[in-house]
Amino acid sequence: MTFGIKLESVDVKFDGHTALSGVTLNLTAKTIAVIGTNGSGKSTFARLLNGLVKPTSGSVSIDGKPASTDTTGFLFSNPDLQIVMPTVFEDVAFSLSNQKLSKDEVRARVTEALAQVGLVELQESNCHTLSSGQKQLLALAANIVREPNLLVADEPTTLLDLPNTKRITNLLHSLPVGQLVIVTHDLDLAATCDEVIWFEAGKVKTVGAPEAVIASYRKHCA
Ligand SMILES: Nc1ncnc2c1ncn2[C@@H]1O[C@H](COP(=O)(O)OP(=O)(O)OP(=O)(O)O)[C@@H](O)[C@H]1O
Ligand SMILES: [Mg+2]
Repeated sequence: MTFGIKLESVDVKFDGHTALSGVTLNLTAKTIAVIGTNGSGKSTFARLLNGLVKPTSGSVSIDGKPASTDTTGFLFSNPDLQIVMPTVFEDVAFSLSNQKLSKDEVRARVTEALAQVGLVELQESNCHTLSSGQKQLLALAANIVREPNLLVADEPTTLLDLPNTKRITNLLHSLPVGQLVIVTHDLDLAATCDEVIWFEAGKVKTVGAPEAVIASYRKHCA
């Protein structure tokens, strides 16, 4: 089986505006951080990985298959965009609605996912009463309950305080997923990954070990 994230000569254009151009990547590291200035193409790259954005030219494959929301989990930076049901329990259970599971199986899987993010006690709460950080944790639970091969998180810590940033960072790294991609402006978070990609003006500027890539990005931005 072909493992990993593969992009070959990918261009993405929106109404004639080029968001990504000539992106070729072969990523097999377990955890990958994506850094770069505003508008450099990070979120566009992230959305290619679950098929929400299609390449204008070139190809994208995940573990040898086309990118799809079936196998790629996705955390938006704004969790309000991901909440679809009234209560915490129902929202996580909704992620399993197209799998033919019994009520007991759903309850067990949802409870386990909520336990992983520390939200079991809030399972009957109305989602809209949660704090921003708790909503972020809920969105994570709604993803991990489906056990995706690849989880992509677009700025997962921007709404979080320091304790929850640490909590999410540790949790993301402990998840039983094949690969994890984290788009972030937090260079400390990027440094926790195995590999870092730096996007600049829609192109890959560098990809490599965190220390070297982050150091040259800092120098570039100084
Ligand atoms: N759906 C869209 N329609 C039109 N233009 C888009 C669309 N999505 C992204 N773009 C453009 O593509 C470029 C890259 O955007 P993208 O959101 O990938 O940047 P980013 O690196 O995630 O930035 P940020 O750090 O601000 O989140 C930007 O110029 C943006 O305006
Ligand atoms: Mg973005």
